[in-house]
Amino acid sequence: MRKDGPPPTVSKMLSCFETKTMVVTFLALALVMLMWNLPPYYQNLLSTTTTTTDRSSCSAAAATLSIANASASLSNSSAGPLAERKYSAPQSIPNSDKRVFQPVGNAAALFVLMGAYRGGPRTFAVVGLASKPIHVYGRPWYKCEWISNNGSSIRTVAYKMLPDWGYGRVYTVVVVNCTFPVNPNQDNAGGKLTVNAYYGESPKKYEKFTALEEAPGSYNESQYHPPYEYEYLYCGSSLYGNLSAARIREWMAYHAWFFGPQSHFVFHDAGGVSPEVREALEPWVRAGRATIQDIRGQAEFDGYYYNQFLVVNDCLHRYRHSANWTFYFDVDEYIYLPNGNTLESVLNEFSNYTQFTIEQNTMSSMLCLNDSTQDYPRQWGFEKLLFRETRTGIWRDRKYAIQAKNAYATGVHMSENVVGKTLHKTETKIRYYHYHNSISVLGEPCREFLPLSAKANNVTWYKELPFVYDDNMKQLANTIKEFERKTIGHVQL
Ligand SMILES: *[C@@H]1O[C@H](CO)[C@@H](O)[C@H](O)[C@H]1NC(C)=O
Ligand SMILES: *[C@@H]1O[C@H](CO)[C@@H](O)[C@H](O)[C@H]1NC(C)=O
Ligand SMILES: *[C@@H]1O[C@H](CO)[C@@H](O)[C@H](O)[C@H]1NC(C)=O
Ligand SMILES: *[C@@H]1O[C@H](CO)[C@@H](O)[C@H](O)[C@H]1NC(C)=O
Ligand SMILES: *[C@@H]1O[C@H](CO)[C@@H](O)[C@H](O)[C@H]1NC(C)=O
Ligand SMILES: *[C@@H]1O[C@H](CO)[C@@H](O)[C@H](O)[C@H]1NC(C)=O
Ligand SMILES: *[C@@H]1O[C@H](CO)[C@@H](O)[C@H](O)[C@H]1NC(C)=O
Ligand SMILES: *[C@@H]1O[C@H](CO)[C@@H](O)[C@H](O)[C@H]1NC(C)=O
Ligand SMILES: *[C@@H]1O[C@H](CO)[C@@H](O)[C@H](O)[C@H]1NC(C)=O
Ligand SMILES: *[C@@H]1O[C@H](CO)[C@@H](O)[C@H](O)[C@H]1NC(C)=O
Repeated sequence: MRKDGPPPTVSKMLSCFETKTMVVTFLALALVMLMWNLPPYYQNLLSTTTTTTDRSSCSAAAATLSIANASASLSNSSAGPLAERKYSAPQSIPNSDKRVFQPVGNAAALFVLMGAYRGGPRTFAVVGLASKPIHVYGRPWYKCEWISNNGSSIRTVAYKMLPDWGYGRVYTVVVVNCTFPVNPNQDNAGGKLTVNAYYGESPKKYEKFTALEEAPGSYNESQYHPPYEYEYLYCGSSLYGNLSAARIREWMAYHAWFFGPQSHFVFHDAGGVSPEVREALEPWVRAGRATIQDIRGQAEFDGYYYNQFLVVNDCLHRYRHSANWTFYFDVDEYIYLPNGNTLESVLNEFSNYTQFTIEQNTMSSMLCLNDSTQDYPRQWGFEKLLFRETRTGIWRDRKYAIQAKNAYATGVHMSENVVGKTLHKTETKIRYYHYHNSISVLGEPCREFLPLSAKANNVTWYKELPFVYDDNMKQLANTIKEFERKTIGHVQL
């Protein structure tokens, strides 16, 4: 096999030649091929190739190139120097058996658009998925064009980011950054942003799509500067599987209290929002505190874990200028301020940083006290799961918050595409309690019991792990319940 041979879809590549001379050349070629009186098998192949490439009239002639064993003679005689540059034909070995490689179907799209957003007066982000091998082994690139309703247009070469750290599967996440030298919609006549997505280095072969449109008069510069609508925004990851509606209810009430009235919560339903979970969130949606995005369609595209990297990047850019700080963590995690800190004072202190990461307190999701005075079935999860695992010197995942206006793309545990500084030393200011997987336990979470003495003991060992009693969250339970009652009324769950 030749390493530098033409890609399998030569026909597509050539279908993008647009000059008149090429059309004439191809017509001549087609005639030559017909006169050669192809055997039936080749003719069948020819017609299937043609019907699957609906792009241009030259593709029929071009398709013959990929199957003709006489291409050597084509390239030096009739097709001329251009074809020779584009398609250097294999040397035909006399009397060798020419084999045919017949492509069928299309395994991964060149680009799958999820969202495109204006990110400022001159800049846009286009968030989507792309075939991973094409980015690992090829060099696809992007070009953006603004086509104004006033008839003018302006172009720019975009840059791309692949923010999923190689975790992608069939698909990888791509954030395309289109930044123009000036605001392309300065006169507010409206217009649209189109993207050319190239298959490889060649500028000849690409797909063009419209990423977003702005209606006349809709551009409003002040939307891209503080003050923002919210102080805090929560961007949730993909929700999937069987989630406990009770735990979701508690999480939502806690964080609506924690982040205060100037906050908003964005959930992404990849199949995890059952009717019960929806019922738990619905009062908050009605109160304007939460939004549920239905992303079940993502299942068509095989990416990392329900396409969570795609979802967090979409959320970043969709809400880039909606809040001072955007938080990324999961629904089995609870942000907590130790030592009597307030969120406002902590974030003021962090305000010179673009992002900070948050250390976790690892909680058991099944250990409870063997305490007959407690009515566990009536208690909330964080009211009864009170054992913190205390191994030191091991790596634990961190979560993070970011000033989205300074971020260009983001990850699940932090962003690597930001301007500005990142702060990690935050453990005395802000932490999070992690009740790993408690969210997918549908029944009673208390499943193992430690003797009452565990409450007083310095350390209690359970299955060779050290635990300490930690009721910081429990102490907030009554406050949160009261807050919930006052905010959304009585909840029947
Ligand atoms: C392939 O090449 C052989 C030998 O050069 C020739 O006899 C045959 O007709 C060619 N087939 C096609 C489809 O052009
Ligand atoms: C193609 O070019 C080679 C070398 O230039 C020459 O030997 C051969 O005869 C040419 N073939 C045709 C069909 O013109
Ligand atoms: C069209 O709009 C662009 C951007 O607002 C502006 O630069 C350009 O001068 C306008 N062209 C015409 C013909 O009005
Ligand atoms: C522009 O946006 C700001 C803030 O979002 C708003 O107060 C203002 O009314 C908007 N202006 C126009 C002309 O829509
Ligand atoms: C949010 O940003 C605005 C403007 O920069 C600032 O006045 C305000 O104090 C910030 N609020 C918080 C909670 O950081
Ligand atoms: C959810 O639970 C139901 C019944 O409890 C079960 O049939 C189903 O397989 C579960 N689905 C998932 C994704 O775990
Ligand atoms: C942030 O940076 C400015 C300018 O360097 C400085 O004056 C200010 O004290 C810093 N704020 C904090 C909270 O460190
Ligand atoms: C809980 O404590 C009671 C006595 O107070 C004891 O009988 C029971 O076996 C204990 N259960 C567990 C699971 O330790
Ligand atoms: C695109 O990148 C530029 C820096 O190269 C940055 O200033 C701009 O904010 C980015 N745009 C978006 C939407 O992320
Ligand atoms: C608990 O153990 C740690 C070390 O393991 C020790 O430093 C600490 O003093 C102990 N606390 C109590 C209350 O015994």
